[in-house]
Amino acid sequence: LLKKRKSKEDTALFRLEENEGEIVLWSENREVSRQLSMIDLQEEDLLVLQKLRPLVKENIEKIVAQFYKNLEKESSLTKIINDNSSIDRLSQTLTIHIEEMFTGVIDQAFFDKRSKIAQVHLHIGLQPKWYMCAFQDLLLSLISLFDETIENREDYNKAIKATTKILNIEQQLVLD
Ligand code: HEM
Repeated sequence: LLKKRKSKEDTALFRLEENEGEIVLWSENREVSRQLSMIDLQEEDLLVLQKLRPLVKENIEKIVAQFYKNLEKESSLTKIINDNSSIDRLSQTLTIHIEEMFTGVIDQAFFDKRSKIAQVHLHIGLQPKWYMCAFQDLLLSLISLFDETIENREDYNKAIKATTKILNIEQQLVLD
C-alpha cells in the first residue's frame, strides 16, 4: 500500500483534513472522560486509526493467527478456549473486534461492548495477566505491520501513538 510511494511529500499517509468516515469521541461518564484525557486520546487519534483501517483489514488473518499461536504457549488458556468456545469461533470474534478498534468511533455502544467482554472473560476465568499478555502480542503484531508498511516517520509515529492509546483504553475498560 505505502511502499510504492516514492517522493517525500507523497509518503504522508494521514492527510487529516480528508477524513472519510464519521469520527465520534463521546462519553457520558465523567470518569471515563478523565481516563481518555489522561492517555491523551483525541479525535485526531481516531482519525489516524480510521486511516489505518484498510491496512489492518488487509492483514487481519495474519494478526489473528499469530494471536492464537501465542496463546498456545500457555496450556491453561487453550483449555479455557476448548471448554468455552473454539479457535474458529473466537477467531471470527477477534477479527471483528480488532477491525472495530480502527473505525474512529468511541460511543456508548463501544463502552457497552467492553463491559460485556469484561463479563465474558470474568465468567470464563481469564486472569488479567494473560489478557495483558495477549494484548502485548497484538500490539507487537500491529507495530510490525506499521514498521513494514509506513515509510513516513511522522505517520509511523502517529500510527503507533494512536494504536497504543486505543489498546490502552480497551484494557482499562475490560480490566476495570
Ligand atoms: C470472548 C476479545 C483475550 C478467551 C471474547 C469476545 C471478544 C473478545 C470481543 C466476545 C465477547 C462477547 O461475547 O460479546 C478479546 C480480546 C482479547 C481477548 C480483544 C485480548 C487482546 C482472550 C484470551 C483468551 C480469551 C487471552 C484465552 C482464554 C475468550 C473466550 C470467549 C471470549 C473463551 C468466549 C467466546 C464465546 O462465547 O465463544 N473475547 N479476548 N480471550 N474470549 Fe476473549
